[in-house]
Amino acid sequence: MNAVAIIPAAGRGERLGAHLPKTLVELRGRPVIVHTLAVFERVAGISGVILVVPPEFVDVYRRVVERYGMPKVLAVVAGGATRTCSVRNGLSALPSEADYVVVHDGARPLVTVATVERGLHLALQAKALVAAVPVKPTIKVVDPATQVIRQTLDRSLLWEIQTPQIFERALLERAYADGAEATDDAALVERLGVPVKVFPGDYDNLKITTPGDMPLAEALLAREESLGLRSPASRPVKQKEKSARRGGKRRPGSIKNGED
Ligand code: CTP
Ligand code: MG
Repeated sequence: MNAVAIIPAAGRGERLGAHLPKTLVELRGRPVIVHTLAVFERVAGISGVILVVPPEFVDVYRRVVERYGMPKVLAVVAGGATRTCSVRNGLSALPSEADYVVVHDGARPLVTVATVERGLHLALQAKALVAAVPVKPTIKVVDPATQVIRQTLDRSLLWEIQTPQIFERALLERAYADGAEATDDAALVERLGVPVKVFPGDYDNLKITTPGDMPLAEALLAREESLGLRSPASRPVKQKEKSARRGGKRRPGSIKNGED
């Protein structure tokens, strides 16, 4: 298996309301995207990463990748108006040798190496699987006009779907081929009638969405760092170290130009 990650990080972060795209906002002194990328750097089964970002911030993200030293990042490409468009742009930047794709939201910096590895291991026996957790609250369907409850769903059947979402490459390309839109990748594959399995995710793998998520994410990251579960790999690379890594020269084409 040759698995490449696509990290969509091209959203506007409207619900967070920061003045920057939300994956550039800092958590514990580093941009959110650096925490996310650092996890993928540590997963042995991931051979490369395609980072998808807002078109006008491509250079900013390239500098972040360079500054923090993320050698698995193969390309930083411009995203589109929706998450689906962004992932589609990521797909067109995949290297030919990739036969599995791991899609993971840039806005989920709390994903763990163990979760990605668990998914990759299970992907040896499945073509499509997504991280998920059983929902904790009671979920009801409410009439939007009257606010009257229409239906109480059977909680034992409900799962909160997260990322990573892992697919055989050819299958994901087929799912994305016809221009359909969805809020996650699995939904596009489900439409094809192909079974998509859930595998155990993690309740802490939150998607940073609203301002209240920031202190929560800070606290969770602090706990993981204190337990030694996160490496300090995501510190900025000093200039001297960088030139030593490149043998004193700039490595040409180390970050490919995207479709910006
Ligand atoms: N995303 C993307 N391209 C888009 C929209 C979203 O790559 N056009 C990415 C986001 O950057 C994020 C993930 O998809 O990593 C999940 O999206 P969401 O949490 O909705 O992020 P935003 O769209 O940035 O936030 P909001 O909806 O509040 O504007
Ligand atoms: Mg959004």
